[in-house]
Amino acid sequence: MAKKFIIGNWKMNLNVHESSLFVTKLAQEVPTFRDVTTVICPSFLALQPLSMQISHRQMKLGAQDCYWRDSGAFTGEISATQLRGLAQYILVGHSERRHVFGEDDRDIRFKVQAALRNGLSPVLCIGETSVERDNGDIEHTIDDQLVSGLLNIDSDQIDEVLVAYEPVWAIGTGETPSVKDIEQVVKIIRTQVAHMFGRDAGKKIRILYGGSVNLDNAGVFLGIKGIDGLLIGGMSLIAPEFAGIVKIAGELAKIEAKEEKND
Ligand code: PGA
Repeated sequence: MAKKFIIGNWKMNLNVHESSLFVTKLAQEVPTFRDVTTVICPSFLALQPLSMQISHRQMKLGAQDCYWRDSGAFTGEISATQLRGLAQYILVGHSERRHVFGEDDRDIRFKVQAALRNGLSPVLCIGETSVERDNGDIEHTIDDQLVSGLLNIDSDQIDEVLVAYEPVWAIGTGETPSVKDIEQVVKIIRTQVAHMFGRDAGKKIRILYGGSVNLDNAGVFLGIKGIDGLLIGGMSLIAPEFAGIVKIAGELAKIEAKEEKND
């Protein structure tokens, strides 16, 4: 059955105390639906206290990044091994990691593998810059990032991977791609995954959209065929917006479940 994923990326916001207060608010407002997985990605520091605080039925926890070695002399880093038991998801290759911190394809590939090796689901973030879009390079960019990010994964691991399509120019800008453009990218992703891991994997891979999602446009993006969820930045820090988006996902999931039953 199709499940929807709503993932909130808090980025470098909220200290431990504020995170706890905010989660108390979310707990009151975020509805629980059988077919919606709601994930919040706070700072590393807040993962441990929040893991004790949240109802795991209502929300899951994700990390915003990880290092790809499991342990060792890597001052300041946090490994996927250390995140086990605290987070179930890890954002990998978020645009800010790629563009502010200079992560390259190799780092990202190793992080995807580290997440899987440690039993966590990587959310591989991909997306073109405005220059790549203006040059007509979207397909090429998406294919490259996917092939490189998913290289050397076994076909039995691909089910654990989520792909988030986030055009770099749409993140935090209020600009968003058209429905047609997103449909096109969904097709590119499914085709490439099918090519790498077989037709079934191409059909089943979970694809999220991210970039300037809010309560007003969430329904449009969630309604796009082949989109399984949303990755939300700014609006994940506003409880009524985030809760409202989860509600939209839940209502849509209910309608889809009914349609599936009637088929
Ligand atoms: P935004 O961020 O929703 O604020 O555009 C999305 C993201 O960075 O994942």
